[in-house]
Amino acid sequence: MDTKLLFSDAADFATPLLAVFAVDIASDNDAKPMPVLLSASDAISKAAAQFLTTGEFKAGLCETLLLHAPARLKAERLLIIGLGKVADLSPDQVRKGAGAAVRFAKPRSLRTLAIMLPDHRAVSDEALESLSAEQTTRAVTEGAWIADFDPDTYRSDRTDQSIRAVTLLSAETEKMTMADKERGFAEGNIYGKAQLFARTLVNEPGNVLVPLELARRAQAELEPLGIAVEVYSTEKLQELKMGSFWAVAKGSEQPPALIVMTYTPAKAPAEGAPVLGLVGKGITFDTGGISIKPADGMEKMKYDMAGAAAMIGAMRAIAELKPANKVISVVCSAENMPDGKAYKPGDVVTAMSGKTIEIINTDAEGRLVLADGLHYAITRGATHLIDAATLTGACVVALGMQNAGVFANDEDTYSRFSKGLQHTGEGFWRLPCTAEYRDQIKSSIADIMNTGGSRWGGAITAAMFLKEFVGDTPWIHLDIAGLAWMEENKPWIAKGPSGIAVRSIAEWVRNF
Ligand code: BES
Ligand code: ZN
Ligand code: ZN
Repeated sequence: MDTKLLFSDAADFATPLLAVFAVDIASDNDAKPMPVLLSASDAISKAAAQFLTTGEFKAGLCETLLLHAPARLKAERLLIIGLGKVADLSPDQVRKGAGAAVRFAKPRSLRTLAIMLPDHRAVSDEALESLSAEQTTRAVTEGAWIADFDPDTYRSDRTDQSIRAVTLLSAETEKMTMADKERGFAEGNIYGKAQLFARTLVNEPGNVLVPLELARRAQAELEPLGIAVEVYSTEKLQELKMGSFWAVAKGSEQPPALIVMTYTPAKAPAEGAPVLGLVGKGITFDTGGISIKPADGMEKMKYDMAGAAAMIGAMRAIAELKPANKVISVVCSAENMPDGKAYKPGDVVTAMSGKTIEIINTDAEGRLVLADGLHYAITRGATHLIDAATLTGACVVALGMQNAGVFANDEDTYSRFSKGLQHTGEGFWRLPCTAEYRDQIKSSIADIMNTGGSRWGGAITAAMFLKEFVGDTPWIHLDIAGLAWMEENKPWIAKGPSGIAVRSIAEWVRNF
């Protein structure tokens, strides 16, 4: 997909489809919705006027109204897209609305379209004024990229519905906001492409995307962008004494992959500057191992590497955003299989840090690979850590599919993450990992065990386990089990891999 940002009059732009946003400015007390276009163009307002007053279009979020051969416009079609109540307007609604425009075009064989950036002069409203030109443009651009993805890669009857070009149109002539929009556009392209790449990885079946293949794809994508990618396997795990990671990996015919990706800024950071460590769970298929999972739904466990994909995607964005600090990402990838060589409940293994772990359940494998990944990231110089993992079903029970879990051991590091959520619009809800939960992972034979004694608070006991391996290093843990795979199509995104956390992780890095 090609994207362009043009500063010109949307009414004079020839395109098969011109998308324009509308909001509902009615207050809660008003009896009926009052849709208003976010456009200051007379020609566009006139073309749409009679349809906005009939009541058939309410400007609900992602609601669409299509007009053919709109009078006085060069566009063949005018698509009006609702963004919901003006008071609720945020970059997230704009991102979704832009996605809805792209996903409207795809099945209709429209290969190019134009989206008019919301014009701040259209409505005088506080909600609208709080949307910066940069954030709005970034959101529209991201939304277009996110919407272009479809998961039907392996269908023989697949018809390519990808969009060739999206043009963002802005009427703005003011120098300042033009520069803001250019910046938002550039960032939106970076974040959008990075998220798309993560989703293509997560979408791949487990027989194709084995650990070393994940490593090859990371290498092929990131090395040309200037990221150093080191790939290690079995021997290195032995050499580093990664007994926890290896316990999971040894039950598979597929060798594990320890992937280390390094971004080095052009200008050397000052002595003592933070080094950000990004650690991802890369289980390319999770059968549960000897504590095997039920057959129902097991096919979904190909997405158990979504945390790893989020980190690889974030590194792709970082390569292009070029933040000031060094970033090192460690992905621990393996297949969790039952086998004669597989690890078993009751086994005791020694992690790279020296801690001993009693295995209670071989399906709690994510925390085992991350334990060594987190410790290793510290030995490679990380001063601040973030990890992402499809770690627990318990997190999905706790938060559903609206929010992923976030845990942190340091307020300053956490606030840099939560600040970024305002821009990325991703749903993360903080859960505790305080000392009073520590007893739940006590073992009578080893230092700790790999599950909580009971199933209560399962997302928290998993976080408590990880916490054992970060020491005093400021750390954030993202449990994305409930959000990495979308169960349904939405107007702005296809069902399948979501690419959750890519943007928020890259944003966190930039907030240092
Ligand atoms: N990969 C799963 C977690 C998961 C569940 C991801 C649902 C996506 C959707 C993880 O490895 C796992 O199996 N966790 C167990 C832990 C338990 C054995 C303590 C779980 O959540 O049941
Ligand atoms: Zn598991
Ligand atoms: Zn798993």
